[in-house]
Amino acid sequence: MTSGASGTGRDWSSDYDIFDPVFVHDPYPIWSALRDGVSLARTERWGGSWMPTRYEDIQAIAHDTGRFSSQQILVAPMPPVPGRQGQPRRSIIGSDAPHHAPERRIVLPFFTPQAVARYAEHTAELCHRFIDAFGDADVVDAAAGYARQLPPRIIAAILGVDPERADEFVGWVQGFLEFGLTDPVAREDSRARIDAFIAEQIAHRRANPGADLISWLLSQQIDGAPLGLDIVEANITLMLIAGIDTTWSSIGSALWHLAAHPEDTARLVAEPDLVPTAVEELLRAYSPVTMARIVTEDTSFAGQALHRGDRVLLPFAAANRDPAVFERPDEVVIDRAHNRHIAFGSGVHRCAGSNLARMEMVTALRVWLERIPRFHLADPDAVTWAGGQVRGPRQLAVVIDARG
Ligand code: HEM
Repeated sequence: MTSGASGTGRDWSSDYDIFDPVFVHDPYPIWSALRDGVSLARTERWGGSWMPTRYEDIQAIAHDTGRFSSQQILVAPMPPVPGRQGQPRRSIIGSDAPHHAPERRIVLPFFTPQAVARYAEHTAELCHRFIDAFGDADVVDAAAGYARQLPPRIIAAILGVDPERADEFVGWVQGFLEFGLTDPVAREDSRARIDAFIAEQIAHRRANPGADLISWLLSQQIDGAPLGLDIVEANITLMLIAGIDTTWSSIGSALWHLAAHPEDTARLVAEPDLVPTAVEELLRAYSPVTMARIVTEDTSFAGQALHRGDRVLLPFAAANRDPAVFERPDEVVIDRAHNRHIAFGSGVHRCAGSNLARMEMVTALRVWLERIPRFHLADPDAVTWAGGQVRGPRQLAVVIDARG
C-alpha cells in the first residue's frame, strides 16, 4: 500500500517510518489507509517492528501479556553506547508477571482520585501563574509557556523534590525519550543525570523521610523483603518520565485543537461543566502514546507469523480512530457521550497516573479558558510536533483574541 496521503511514495504497509516528519506531523491518514489494508504493517527501519492499527488487535496484544512482553517498551531499540552500562533496570512499565502486579500495587495509593485531588488547588494556582507570566503579550507559546510547565511541577510535588528544577526534568525527559530515541549519546547523558539526581534524593530521604512517593517506595516490602534499591530507582525514574511529556503533549494537543476550532472553544467557555467530557474526547482524538511489546515465542497473530524477539508497536492513537468502534472517528465531537478510548492503554499496564493526568488536563483547560476565552493559531504551519513514543506539539504560538 502506497499512502497517497503521505505524498512520500513510500509503501507504508511494508516500510513505515514512525520518525518520518510526514508521519510525525499527521499520522492519521496513514493509519487509516493501513487499517483498511493489512492487519500488521511491517518495517525493517529502526530495528524492525510490526504495527497493528485496528482497535481490536491493539487491545488484544495489550492484554496478551504471555505472548507479548513488556520487557522492551521503546518504539525503537537503543544501540548501546560504548563504555556505558546499557542494562535497563526493572520498573513496572517494563516488567511482566510475576513482578508487575505486586510492584504496581505499591505505587497506586499515590494516584487514586482522592490522592490526586489534593494537588488540584496547587495545579490551578500554577496555571494562573503561567498565564500571569505571559503579561500583555498578544502572541504566546501555549506548549512551551503553558502545557510544558505544569506536569514536571506536579510530579515534583508528589516526589517531594524541588519544583524549581522543573526545566531540568523536562530536558532530561526530552533527552531520554524524545531526542534519545534516535540519539544514544543524548539518551545516556540524560540517564546519567537522572541517576545522579535520584541517588541524591534517595540519600536525602533515608535521612529525612517524608510523606512523598520516594520515601514511600523506600519503606515498602514485598513478601516480607524490602523493595530492591534498583527497583526503587527504576520506578522513581519512571514517575519522572511517564508523567511529563505525556501530559504536556495532551494539554498541548487540546489547546492546538481549540485554537483551530473556535466553535468548540466557545462551547466550553459557555459550558465549563463539559470540560471533563471534552478532555476524554481530546485524549481519544490526539492520544499521544505509542508503546511496544516483544514477542516471547514463535507464534501467529491476525494471520501473520511472528518470531520470538520481534517488536510490535501499540499505537493507541490508531486504535482510537478505528471506525469499527467510534462513529465519525476523525472528528472531535466535543460532547461525545460514549467513548471507550484507550489513550491510557489497556490491560494490566493501563496508565497508573490516569487520574492525575485527567486532573491536570481538566484544570489546565478550565483555567486557560477562563483567562483566555478566545485565541487562534498564529501560524498553523509553524506548529512543530514531537513524535515516536509520545506525540504532541512542541512550539505552539497562539494569538490571544480576548482575555477573561
Ligand atoms: C495524558 C497523559 C498520559 C497518557 C496519555 C498516558 C498513557 C499511558 C499509557 C498508554 C500507558 C500504558 C503503557 C503500556 O501499556 O505499556 C501508561 C502507563 C503508565 N503511566 Fe501514563 N500516561 C499519562 C500520564 C501519566 C502520569 C501523569 C503519570 C504519573 C506519574 C503516569 C504514569 C504511568 C505509569 C507508572 C505507567 C505504567 C503502568 C504499568 O505498567 O503498570 N502516566 N501511561
